[in-house]
Amino acid sequence: MNPYLSQLQPYPFEKLQSLKNGITPAVEKSPISLSIGEPKHTPPAFVLESLNKNIGRVVNYPSTKGLPELRQAIAEWLTRRFKLNAAGIDSETQVLPVNGTREALFAFVQACVDTRKTAKVLMPNPFYQIYEGAAYLAGAEPVFLNCSRETHYQPNYAEIDEQTWKDCQLLFICTPGNPTGAVMSNQQLVELIELADKYDFIIASDECYSELYFDEANPPQGLLQACASMGRDDYARCIVFHSLSKRSNLPGLRSGFVAGDQALLSPFLQYRTYHGCAMPIQTQLASICAWQDEQHVIENRSLYRKKFERVLSILDGCLDVGMPDASFYLWPTTPINEELFTQKLFAEQNVTVLPGTFLARPSGGVNPGSNRVRMALVASLEECEQAATRIREFCLTL
Ligand SMILES: Cc1ncc(COP(=O)(O)O)c(C=O)c1O
Repeated sequence: MNPYLSQLQPYPFEKLQSLKNGITPAVEKSPISLSIGEPKHTPPAFVLESLNKNIGRVVNYPSTKGLPELRQAIAEWLTRRFKLNAAGIDSETQVLPVNGTREALFAFVQACVDTRKTAKVLMPNPFYQIYEGAAYLAGAEPVFLNCSRETHYQPNYAEIDEQTWKDCQLLFICTPGNPTGAVMSNQQLVELIELADKYDFIIASDECYSELYFDEANPPQGLLQACASMGRDDYARCIVFHSLSKRSNLPGLRSGFVAGDQALLSPFLQYRTYHGCAMPIQTQLASICAWQDEQHVIENRSLYRKKFERVLSILDGCLDVGMPDASFYLWPTTPINEELFTQKLFAEQNVTVLPGTFLARPSGGVNPGSNRVRMALVASLEECEQAATRIREFCLTL
């Protein structure tokens, strides 16, 4: 077997299962999970109707490049949402459908890393686990850039040495971030694009939480938007990853897209053709309906807004936790070790959270996930309130 496989860490949820093994939670309390970031709000009915209506399309092989109508709907959405220049984005060459961002994030690294020279893949720390596994399996070295409260949960890019930038083939950014929810500013994105020009690396921007924000008048900026603000519409060295999973509560649809530099997308399409990951036609047709509608996304945001307000007001004064810029995560510091906190909270209150160290790696002598847990506010308002009340009760005993 591929020796790189042995570098893969067990997935955070496997580690969590081992951590909980042997613990019997308080039986009188119903289990509440805040550990998995799986959206639970109702998906839009018209998307499901489209899926049902077009199920007969399973008789056709889909093309990897996807239907022109889907790429067009995505290009229009991108242009509207990220205020791209009049030329917008070319649906023919600068957009590709993918089966959720997870597979695309993984596949893109395989397609772009050149192991004939030193290959470093830079990523935030904590991070979405696929970035690391994809780097290892491509034969590259992951470099973990710590994100702490002091730097508003962004890496301190100014600290990175010249040689690391020279060896960097790919830089992952995640904005809004998982698990921190931190959003990068236009200024920060522009500075990274300038570094990518200087050192000739690719920026892969995971923006799958971009539609879960709190201020309707202030949506998070994206990497393509930063390119546009610099007067660029070739999006050189830039690729963004978007998904319907969180935006439209459709994690099982497996629908997303990548967009950006044609010079990256064209070989990536060739890679994908061999890899065999075309999106089923009925999924593509349902996805068109979802990208064309914003009303359900606005309603979705208002549900999250209410949950954050309620949960944070319950946790106020008992846990060091703040409102994230965006996303559906809380990233509190814990008064005791994060694994112990997770175990005791599960045992005493039957609430499951995820230890921060399962989402981060030690780097520069620290693990930025230490004394942190991730809480995903995906359950219903009532359940999230119930969880927060139990967490409050638990924290007051510590
Ligand atoms: C940061 C981040 N990127 C990508 C994904 C993958 O999402 P999907 O494959 O459903 O688009 C997730 C899922 O939780 C995530 O948290």
